[in-house]
Amino acid sequence: MRTTFTTSKSAPSKVGALVIPIASSGTIPAGVGLNRSQLSAIGFEAKVGQTTVLPANAKGTVRVLVGIGAVADLNANSLRNIAAASARACSKFESVATSLPTAARGDIRANTQAVVEGFALALHRWAELKRDKSSLPALTKVILVAGDKTTAVKNGMDKGIATATAVCIARDFANTPPSHLTARQFAEQAVAIAEKSNLKSTVYNRDQLIAMGCGGLVGVNKGSVEPPRMVKLEYKPTGARGKVVLVGKGVMYDSGGISLKPSDPSHASMKMDMSGAAAVLATMGALSALKVKTQVTAYLMCTDNMPSGSALKLGDVLTMRNGKTVEIHNTDAEGRLILADGLSLGAESKPDAMVDIATLTGACLAALGKKMAGVIGNNSAVVSQLMASSGRTDELLWELPLFRDYRSMLDSNVADMRNIGGPLAGATTASLFLSEFVGNTPWAHLDIAGPMEADGDNGWLNRGATAFGTRLLIDFCANFTKPAVKLNK
Ligand code: BES
Ligand code: MN
Ligand code: ZN
Repeated sequence: MRTTFTTSKSAPSKVGALVIPIASSGTIPAGVGLNRSQLSAIGFEAKVGQTTVLPANAKGTVRVLVGIGAVADLNANSLRNIAAASARACSKFESVATSLPTAARGDIRANTQAVVEGFALALHRWAELKRDKSSLPALTKVILVAGDKTTAVKNGMDKGIATATAVCIARDFANTPPSHLTARQFAEQAVAIAEKSNLKSTVYNRDQLIAMGCGGLVGVNKGSVEPPRMVKLEYKPTGARGKVVLVGKGVMYDSGGISLKPSDPSHASMKMDMSGAAAVLATMGALSALKVKTQVTAYLMCTDNMPSGSALKLGDVLTMRNGKTVEIHNTDAEGRLILADGLSLGAESKPDAMVDIATLTGACLAALGKKMAGVIGNNSAVVSQLMASSGRTDELLWELPLFRDYRSMLDSNVADMRNIGGPLAGATTASLFLSEFVGNTPWAHLDIAGPMEADGDNGWLNRGATAFGTRLLIDFCANFTKPAVKLNK
């Protein structure tokens, strides 16, 4: 993460710019030196996220006004985007100070966390391969003016730093070109993160995966020169309240395999087909710093999906970790094959809940667009806990059905199932496939094919990889409560 945060009781005198929140009604802070009609004469109505820069005053301080709309409507989600807008308006200054954390009524800790996330995420860039770094924002120091609320602001700041750091890590992984981040390199990075974050890590290579019967991950890897990796990460806090398994799709590059994808612009985005595994890894890395009281085990399922003389063929049948057989009808439906092994392993440990996250289907992208992910599960308590996290993190979810009638679309003549359904209800048939590997475990699947990438800068989103799901999964683990073990779908 490029941004550092500190708190201060009052606004420091030496700072690049002072970000001053302005509500759409009520008194304007004295330091602004302009009244409401003067502000509206320069087009500033204090709408949510609207910004305007005022030249240095007599004391030499540049003030940046940011609209916060009606104070009564302000919440952590709007503050996150207001902070992001402030960051963009101030990107040329090296440091800013702001009283945004205390601008809203309500939970100062949660508001501060959101403000930190907004600044850090709007200022995030992945510039490893840019020789000219001059276009990077100069802004790297943010001072949170806390007034008499220092403890709550400090607390929220620390939480925000942990969540934003995780998001930046996941974005960096997803933005990295596929040949700069192979399954082996990703596994090495995962081990390094585990060492720093109080996690146990185990890396499984191809031979070990074969011995374990992980036919899905090994099968998808068949066409690739790069070997596969599965990474198991374990977080075991003392006195854990429940046990969660997370599974992430880590397709480092999805060419489609023998069912080669067409050469359209979206093909280059397939370096991001490991966004699910990146979100899970980043989540795991944040749990200890956030003192999460849930036991969490993660499986990162990592491989390329490549065509070659040794590649998986159509008509081939794979035997998965749980013994079920799958006839391949399209090698581009590879995500579900690698997730199947991770879900099988997860189910074996009988967790209280299991969540997988994957850039799984173009069908979900077509249904919901790029601003929300699909959620499909077999247990309404798990789905509603994810929905609650979605509400707090502003990572939007929409529930799609696990409609059992469509299971027949996966019927195969020679195996237990095929790996694709028909042309219809693709997000549902993919989930029905996954549900074959979870046993009775309360489970939900997040399809992030839509929101994995943003087309432009908007609020907390920046153009490129979004790391969607990272903050949501952190919030889910932090607030997890055991669902009643009852399959209701
Ligand atoms: N990784 C893709 C899904 C995807 C598409 C993610 C667009 C992000 C943006 C996945 O592996 C895939 O290729 N899915 C196929 C499945 C089909 C063959 C049943 C798809 O959605 O077309
Ligand atoms: Mn694919
Ligand atoms: Zn894929």
